[in-house]
Amino acid sequence: MSSALFRTKNVEQSIRDTEEPEHSLRKSLSALDLTVFGVGVIIGTGIFVLTGQVAKNNAGPAVSLAFVAAGVVCALAALCYAEFASTVPVAGSAYTFSYASLGELPAWIIGWDLVLEFALGTAVVAVGWSGYIRSLLDNAGWHLPDYLAGRDGASGFGFDILAAALVLALTGILVLGMKLSARITSIVVAIKVAVVLIVIIAGAFFIHGANYKPFIPDPEPVSAGGNLKAPLIQLMFGWAPANFGVMGIFTAASVVFFAFIGFDIVATAAEETRNPQRDMPRGILGSLLICTVLYVAVSIVVTGMQKYTGLSVEAPLADAFKSVGHPWYAGVISFGAAVGLTTVCMILLLGQTRVFFAMSRDGLLPRFFSRVHPRFKTPHRPTILLGVIIAIVAGFTSLSELAELVNIGTLFAFVVVAISVIILRRTRPDLPRAFRTPWVPVVPILSVCATLWLMLNLPAETWLRFAIWMVIGIAVYLLYGRRHSLLALREQAAAGEVPGAPPGKQQ
Ligand code: ALA
Repeated sequence: MSSALFRTKNVEQSIRDTEEPEHSLRKSLSALDLTVFGVGVIIGTGIFVLTGQVAKNNAGPAVSLAFVAAGVVCALAALCYAEFASTVPVAGSAYTFSYASLGELPAWIIGWDLVLEFALGTAVVAVGWSGYIRSLLDNAGWHLPDYLAGRDGASGFGFDILAAALVLALTGILVLGMKLSARITSIVVAIKVAVVLIVIIAGAFFIHGANYKPFIPDPEPVSAGGNLKAPLIQLMFGWAPANFGVMGIFTAASVVFFAFIGFDIVATAAEETRNPQRDMPRGILGSLLICTVLYVAVSIVVTGMQKYTGLSVEAPLADAFKSVGHPWYAGVISFGAAVGLTTVCMILLLGQTRVFFAMSRDGLLPRFFSRVHPRFKTPHRPTILLGVIIAIVAGFTSLSELAELVNIGTLFAFVVVAISVIILRRTRPDLPRAFRTPWVPVVPILSVCATLWLMLNLPAETWLRFAIWMVIGIAVYLLYGRRHSLLALREQAAAGEVPGAPPGKQQ
């Protein structure tokens, strides 16, 4: 029985499955598309909203170091992701990779985890987008009634109508097809990057050296009580919970990590890439590098423009310009942020539907969801189902509660991918790998350690919520996926013979 839970899907089978016409996606993306795709989803709520929040509450001007720390964790993970994406170019990202290396149950766990990451990530970004739109509407003198302006600050019923509408509109675009959405993405990404560059270049003229002092503020104890809100690492070692100081930088890094989420999604589009062996690593590493440089620059500029204690937690980039007497720039930045968050939301939604699609194609979720649309060639069923659910979640939930849950889910996936690289090198040394992670197993092991370190800096309550989601997932697998798995059915059909996979891969 336990060997059934760890049965692995062979890589050749994964690739063959994508060639069944009814279940295959159109191959249309190039390395440039992937990089634009990556930048499109990576730059978002993280830099536009969370920078101010963590500078003010956790790290002060040293928030730029938090971006560096989170960027290093992501770069290590990216080196592992790139090897997998170029070896197993099939929709589903870390889910597919772990199915080929760790086995069915771990793959299910990772797929379930990615559903959490992408679905809640989409909702978080939609809520952030809605905040920027409301602030623009307010400037124009239009005010939405409180009960349609979201959960944050609502007394009684509150539904974020703008966030829900955005998710539904994007769902429609995705159903119509990849090419259309990639084109829209390129334009929007250009606007977003232009706005970020405006912040860096224009903002540099307003930096006051005094704002950087102290660069790493002294630690400040936070009130005890609410123990579950403290980072797990502080509880584990019985430290008094504190903000700022060196530990504050790591707390900040575990939050701004959200700003980097997305490069892993580039890998989910492997199956739709013309030449995945060459273009995947370029797309993943390229988009990550561009974003890291921009983030560090933005955070240095913004904390230099305004004392960290005075930064806004809702629109820090725009408000920094207001603080130096340039509201016009602030308006442009808010507009660019609102436009930019649209693509982030769309690509998170896309990554989400592709993982769901891959799980369904493997029979772990009903196969009904993996029939692509006959005309648009898109997985329209999971797109519509998930789009509607996420629209409801985005309408009814508050931003801050969800971001950390998204982070822990993503970090967990990084750990699994890094371990999978080591395992697949041992079990399938023969596979062609267009991109090879350097210094295996050193880099994957460093990746696991660095990722776990960030996870430990997340609040204990985030760990608890994550555990609950995972327990539900394992129950779903045991009740449905284990019996309906296509791999299990194939193995049964071939019972008595050597299964189609080359020997030695069953773990
Ligand atoms: N990285 C994306 C953002 O910052 C998810 O919004």
